[in-house]
Amino acid sequence: MRVIRVTDHAEVSALAAELLAKFIAEHDEVVLALPTGGTPLGMYNELVTLARTGALDLGRATVFNLDEYVGLPSDHSQSYASYMRRHLYDRAEFDPTKLHIPDGNAEDLVAACASYEGRIAEAGGLDIAVLGIGANGHIAFNEPGCGLNSRVRVVRLSDRTVLDNARFFDDPRAVPRHAITMGVGTIRSSRALMMLASGEGKAAAVAAALEGPVTTRCPASAIQLHPSAVVILDEEAASALRVRPWSKEEFLADPHAPQFLFL
Ligand code: F6R
Repeated sequence: MRVIRVTDHAEVSALAAELLAKFIAEHDEVVLALPTGGTPLGMYNELVTLARTGALDLGRATVFNLDEYVGLPSDHSQSYASYMRRHLYDRAEFDPTKLHIPDGNAEDLVAACASYEGRIAEAGGLDIAVLGIGANGHIAFNEPGCGLNSRVRVVRLSDRTVLDNARFFDDPRAVPRHAITMGVGTIRSSRALMMLASGEGKAAAVAAALEGPVTTRCPASAIQLHPSAVVILDEEAASALRVRPWSKEEFLADPHAPQFLFL
């Protein structure tokens, strides 16, 4: 696990986009898992800029979203399907047949989960999963207490997550209580992981995830067990860590730093 500290959210976004663009460029076919939320917005802007200047071909990317709300129409402004179109897919040239999101409106949600997990397998598995982290230590919508080998399934969101996500809704009471999420096991099966965090509100969760015990109380702590993971933090998100993170310059210049993304 490589933990890199940069100054602020803009630098988290720029470095994440730089590493992801390099990863995509070095592979003919690439299968990504991508998050929603506030954290990746800057990275998506950077990726769109790179694609528009011709420096990045996003058409080769197969994308699976980490999660989607249950029961929110896919054209609702806060569905994750809408989010992805608004912030990424409608702004760059993707191959629409390669874009996947769980169907939170399926009549048979159990079958929809199995089908999603199956599609990931058919695509050859995830090459890299980009993750945010919840203030309660969740990754995707795997809330504290979930199994660390869990697969795609329907979950109930914690009160904390519903409260955190209410900021995106006009009516906070409209935040769905359930979601379909990739499991921690699904995420751990990805060949590489890249976790991003910024802001003081994430400091405790980041410290628990990276320096605490691996425990279901903090699903993000599963990242410690992954052989090929990088974590990019801004100063505030890194502020509760006791082990000094790498600087960006150290990480990029060190010839012995495993090229974690390029295995
Ligand atoms: C969303 C997701 C969540 C978020 C997390 C952080 O697809 O996977 O785990 O990454 O809730 O959200 P932000 O970035 O809004 O702080």
